[in-house]
Amino acid sequence: MNEQTSMNSKNILLLGSTSFTGSHTLYSLQDQYSFRTVGRNADSVDIVFDVYNDSISALRSDFEWADVVINCFSNGDVDSCEVNPLPSSQLNMEFPKQLCNMQKETGFHLIHFSSNAVYDGDNPLYSEASEHHPINTYGRLKSDADIFLKNESERCTLLRPITMFGQLLGDQRHNPFSFFFDKLMNNQDIVAVNDVYVNMLHVDVLTSCIEKAIDDSIYGEFNISGDNIVNRFEFVSKIKRYLPNSTSVITETDSSGFVTAARRPLNTSFDNQKMKNELGVFPTDLSLTIEFLVNSALDQAQNPDSLKRAA
Ligand SMILES: NC(=O)c1ccc[n+]([C@@H]2O[C@H](COP(=O)([O-])OP(=O)(O)OC[C@H]3O[C@@H](n4cnc5c(N)ncnc54)[C@H](OP(=O)(O)O)[C@@H]3O)[C@@H](O)[C@H]2O)c1
Repeated sequence: MNEQTSMNSKNILLLGSTSFTGSHTLYSLQDQYSFRTVGRNADSVDIVFDVYNDSISALRSDFEWADVVINCFSNGDVDSCEVNPLPSSQLNMEFPKQLCNMQKETGFHLIHFSSNAVYDGDNPLYSEASEHHPINTYGRLKSDADIFLKNESERCTLLRPITMFGQLLGDQRHNPFSFFFDKLMNNQDIVAVNDVYVNMLHVDVLTSCIEKAIDDSIYGEFNISGDNIVNRFEFVSKIKRYLPNSTSVITETDSSGFVTAARRPLNTSFDNQKMKNELGVFPTDLSLTIEFLVNSALDQAQNPDSLKRAA
């Protein structure tokens, strides 16, 4: 447990601290706030809780303790949501609704995450005012939870990240950076799609938004993205520029050759002006971020004990 005694420190209940977002939130903000971490793995959390097996009321005293609850519980595997909608619905839609009801009883500030999958990808740029037209089950579940929280919760920050990338701090599923970096380091050839576009988000930009929302008690809905719109082929090509010794050959293709259970929207790029204006968070240029990440991943490979903060 990382509870501190500072009078000014807010109490943060972090649901899903083992997630990509949760692990970076803890890593970046653990000196500023008092955290209690919640999740399924007893070795890595303060409080063991499984959405499928446990009742939310088991966490009541933790909700009473918390000034802020950050909900990173989710199933973000869009194909698994498509083929197995019931458990995904419990995690991605029912649990956020239960959180909202618990919030009414105990009064915490809720920070919850939506997804770019609420949009169909046909009419970018998407702002907070854009209509939701999800084209897969994951997107529909995220959208339903968003609408419920927007109608029912007065103290909710709904952060909607676009596809994220960054260093893995644990056992999380791959993101576009970690996936391509590993392939390039292992000199494996890569086929990357050239028709799926996003202004991809470095996870540290999201943690800066979380910090701002906590410190200034900012509520409402925010589309969170980087500034540079790239397709996957362009993204991996940028990584390779900083790994000149990799012999991987990168080939581009369109996504029609990739058959997946869930349809993917083609271009969900965001208008992130509200993020900049109201949260005061400005992303770093994509190439500079990638250069930093490559260098810090190389440092770490040489010296596994050194884990540098991504800028
Ligand atoms: N990553 C992205 O690019 C992206 C893009 C758009 C939106 N988002 C949204 O951002 C939020 C965070 O995403 P993320 O990618 O950081 O998440 P993630 O790495 O996929 O982690 C999901 C978390 O949910 C936990 N979890 C899964 N099933 C559970 C259960 N039955 N009971 C308790 N915990 C359970 C996992 O715990 P275990 O470690 O035990 O498995 C893990 O901590 C999500 O709401 C996601 O929809 C993410």
